[in-house]
Amino acid sequence: MKVLEGRPERDVPLRARWDRAAQALVAHRDVLEARPRPGERGGGEWHDFLLSLDDGELAEIESRGHEARWPERAPPSLLALVTAARVACDVPALLPDAGDAAPRATRRRETPRKRAQVEAFAALVRPLTAYATRFVDVGSGHGHLTRGIAEQNDVPVVGLERDVQLASRARALPSTRSPTFAVTDVVRDGLPLEPGDCVVGLHACGELGDLLVTRVASMAGARASLALVGCCLQKRRSGERVSLCAPAALERALALPKPLLGLSNLTARDEGVEATRVENLAARERRIALHRLLAEAGVPLGVGRELEGLNRRVAHHALADLVARAFVLRGLTPPSADRIAKAAAWAAGEHARVRRLGLPRGLLARVLEVFVLLDRAVYLEQHGFEVAIGSLFAARVSPRNLALVASSS
Ligand SMILES: C[S@@+](CC[C@H](N)C(=O)[O-])C[C@H]1O[C@@H](n2cnc3c(N)ncnc32)[C@H](O)[C@@H]1O
Repeated sequence: MKVLEGRPERDVPLRARWDRAAQALVAHRDVLEARPRPGERGGGEWHDFLLSLDDGELAEIESRGHEARWPERAPPSLLALVTAARVACDVPALLPDAGDAAPRATRRRETPRKRAQVEAFAALVRPLTAYATRFVDVGSGHGHLTRGIAEQNDVPVVGLERDVQLASRARALPSTRSPTFAVTDVVRDGLPLEPGDCVVGLHACGELGDLLVTRVASMAGARASLALVGCCLQKRRSGERVSLCAPAALERALALPKPLLGLSNLTARDEGVEATRVENLAARERRIALHRLLAEAGVPLGVGRELEGLNRRVAHHALADLVARAFVLRGLTPPSADRIAKAAAWAAGEHARVRRLGLPRGLLARVLEVFVLLDRAVYLEQHGFEVAIGSLFAARVSPRNLALVASSS
């Protein structure tokens, strides 16, 4: 089947892509909602098959997501989900492969991965520069993209950032052209735009991405354009994301609460992330053990709340250290080494089970991300924009690599 084995389909209309992704989510909403938990059964009709997966099969599926090969003995209904996910996630690359061109030197505070993102993003917006009278980089962070765009354009470039410290660091970094940086929370304060603005957002998180889309859509006919790579869809003030362009009959089925949106930010890949897959898995196992120990000590805890009050990185420390910090934080005496060892053994078994039972849900993570991309793209199209979507850089540069570019036609 072409979409599964060969090159991504290029010419599928955005609305048809939206339908595919929406259908995959609606049809498997029960899988999305049923997060397997340590100590609970889970897995539904696929339970026995999933628990039969050996470590090699698990690692293949977990690390390659919808691209993984599933064993032929998998139940047909599960293979149908795999196919639906692959079809929904089949997006083209937005730029031709850059080949082996030597990269420019990194700027101060810019990592090689951020440099690759900035270079790809700058190439994406290059065709828009003919029309843009100003670039507005929203959520500009350290301003690497802002500077990259300023260096290739003669028009004003402004970075908007709500974090005062980041904005002042961005101002202090050297640049051959000087973009300006303003401190503002655009969700709270609004995003004033002018005709001819090209709005850009690289890893514009959660609600920020939707705001950029709706603001630019409201500028239809005013030569506005937008280039956007979203991320962290769960970062929003409201409890759920409502689709921008679902028909009324599907609106509830496609409303995505924060815990589901957070799924789209997970990656089990080794590439393009801060810690390796193995390190992240070990950290998750420690958290399961810690949760158990806190529950045994009578601490009432919601799911995933065991790290509350601690820097998330402590989950990468040795279990005894993590446990000591979590207990001391709550004014409790840490458990004995023997209790910790018992909790660790229980967590190892439960983690192995939960990892397997969570595979079908994990398959839908990228579908969610693609759906939100398409939801934004179709909304812009409905407002008269020409829109292209696709992956902007390789997952090893960043797994959050889905982009849209929209210009008034
Ligand atoms: C993931 S970072 C990306 C930063 C930068 N674009 C990059 O690629 O390095 C998202 C940035 O958006 C900023 N941000 C988030 N919400 C914002 C808002 N409502 N208004 C302004 N900035 C915001 C954050 O402070 C953060 O610096």
